Amino acid sequence: MALTLLEVSNLRIVKHALVHPGDGLNVIVGPNGSGKSSLLEGIHMLGMGRSFRPGPVGQPIRRGETSLNVRGCWCTEDGGQIALGVERGPEHRRIRVNGNTCDSAGSLAQVLPLQAVLPDTRYLFLHSARFRRGVLDWGLFHVERTFYEAWMRYQRALRQRNAALRAAQPLATLEPWEQTLAEAGEHIEGLRARYLEPWGMLAMQYSEILMSGMQLRLEWRRGWPEAQSLADTLSRDRERDCREGYTRAGIHRADLQVHLQGAPLRECASLGQQMLAVLALRLAQVELLMQTSGRRCLLMLDDVVNQLDRDRRASLLARVAQLGVQTFVTATEIGGLETTGSPNRRVFHVEQGRVFAEEANEE
Ligand SMILES: Nc1ncnc2c1ncn2[C@@H]1O[C@H](COP(=O)(O)OP(=O)(O)OP(=O)(O)O)[C@@H](O)[C@H]1O
Ligand SMILES: [Mg+2]
Repeated sequence: MALTLLEVSNLRIVKHALVHPGDGLNVIVGPNGSGKSSLLEGIHMLGMGRSFRPGPVGQPIRRGETSLNVRGCWCTEDGGQIALGVERGPEHRRIRVNGNTCDSAGSLAQVLPLQAVLPDTRYLFLHSARFRRGVLDWGLFHVERTFYEAWMRYQRALRQRNAALRAAQPLATLEPWEQTLAEAGEHIEGLRARYLEPWGMLAMQYSEILMSGMQLRLEWRRGWPEAQSLADTLSRDRERDCREGYTRAGIHRADLQVHLQGAPLRECASLGQQMLAVLALRLAQVELLMQTSGRRCLLMLDDVVNQLDRDRRASLLARVAQLGVQTFVTATEIGGLETTGSPNRRVFHVEQGRVFAEEANEE
């Protein structure tokens, strides 16, 4: 599974770029501000329907233009081709899959499983429980058929219950939302618990490989007391939730704790080690996806290799090559990226928003 064509128009500094990536390692190299991340932002839009950078929705549109366009061709495991397209204006977004307009970005994510490690991933992973839950749920979204529908149902019921709490409606009116929250929430919690065990084992193996034998351990805290059902917890919490105006228990309050060599990652690890730990977790998910569904995802590493020393960089790229997933890596220098021995490596040079395939790339 790989992106065989990428066309980006009017995305930040990139006026127009047409790229034919390889199905192995793709190195995007160029000076600061040349447009490397913008190119990856285009791929991110094809997989998630949105940019990965914070800011107003219109910001990625090239200054002076009214909309941006990204088009791609995703080749599936059985050799099928799926055309993906995203058009974004300040006020609109249009998503197309094989020429059909789709309502939600979920349709893109279902086609193109995208695993992204970006400049702020390490920070978000350490500081945001919501982000950590999202990392886990990425795995469920792609592996568990029932996850997405249950998750959407849960989110809707949560919004409704919170609105009813804030409107100080009679407590009995909360019951229908609580039934849905309990049913969908317990289901998702079960899926999460089932995913965590193999993920934790693989993440530990990856941390040993990438971090000279150091061990990661995952600890899961579900979002309500262990001894109680979610239904009971919600009904017991009604008065307090009503006073505070929001739902304090549920899967939206769960958290993933990561320990390195027995101590919390945030407290004990250097910045580079934190990044390697995040990479170990992400690569473990990539492998788990392949093991459970036979699907290969697209891996993007923006500004990651620059943070690693030569040996770790080499071991990361060797491991990625072994996984055999299509990978996009950005770097300001090509040095240190040729050590992988990746046979199907392609290099793209970016200069002031223009992208040039290196001549040695076999087209
Ligand atoms: N809406 C926009 N229109 C035009 N140019 C923009 C817009 N938004 C950002 N830019 C420019 O695009 C460039 C951003 O490029 P990008 O972040 O892709 O660079 P990069 O190659 O990843 O750099 P770095 O190595 O520093 O990460 C910057 O020069 C920025 O000024
Ligand atoms: Mg960048």
